[in-house]
Amino acid sequence: MSFVVAIDGPAGTGKGTITKLIAQELGLVNIDTGAMYRCITLKGIRQGINCLERKEELIQIAKDINIYIENHNGNQQTFLEGEDVTTEIRSKEVSDFVSQLSSIPEIREIVVNLSRNIAEGKDVIMEGRDITTVVFPNAQVKIYLDADIEERAKRRFKENQEKGIEGSYEQVLENVKMRDYNDIHKPVGALKVAEDAVVVDTTKMTIEEVKEKVKEVILERRK
Ligand code: DC
Repeated sequence: MSFVVAIDGPAGTGKGTITKLIAQELGLVNIDTGAMYRCITLKGIRQGINCLERKEELIQIAKDINIYIENHNGNQQTFLEGEDVTTEIRSKEVSDFVSQLSSIPEIREIVVNLSRNIAEGKDVIMEGRDITTVVFPNAQVKIYLDADIEERAKRRFKENQEKGIEGSYEQVLENVKMRDYNDIHKPVGALKVAEDAVVVDTTKMTIEEVKEKVKEVILERRK
């Protein structure tokens, strides 16, 4: 049976960084499910579709889309119809629309199935918003990462600057607030703490400390 580590939490809690490091250290396949919602968003934007009024067209895009994920030592590369879009899916345009798009139940169902298929037969660490509650409610390890909103916006802003993604701190904070609201109020797959998840508040913790804490929980369950 495969081993599943499920990690959820709002934007900017360090899920991406932590899962990558742990995947490398423990030899797990790292799967970032947000990248799949981002691919559908990017394809929609490229076709000029970036509003929920055109929901049916977005659902059709999700049905037809070809998303492929490659893993190299914990680093995920995301391909949309064969094109490497790993960086482009992080653009401001995509970030501004993705949380609205991910509220569409039909699109969630497609991504949930895709996430399960990708994980099939592998030992994985998968991160998103509904991994502990919907995608893998029976995961061997469930973690919920949290942090204060200003701290999360600060981290996302710094990450964007390092990646050369434009936008002020205030814009990033607004985007994080908007995404929190959308994540919590989704009709299906809303962000919430699973009853049996271990909650880690990362506000005052370094990446190293969070990594060690999460690893400790995983290794305890893996025994
Ligand atoms: O983790 P991220 O910021 O790359 O995710 C992008 C968006 O996708 C985010 O606004 C929430 C949504 N998402 C989701 O609804 N469910 C998931 N399992 C992963 C991401």
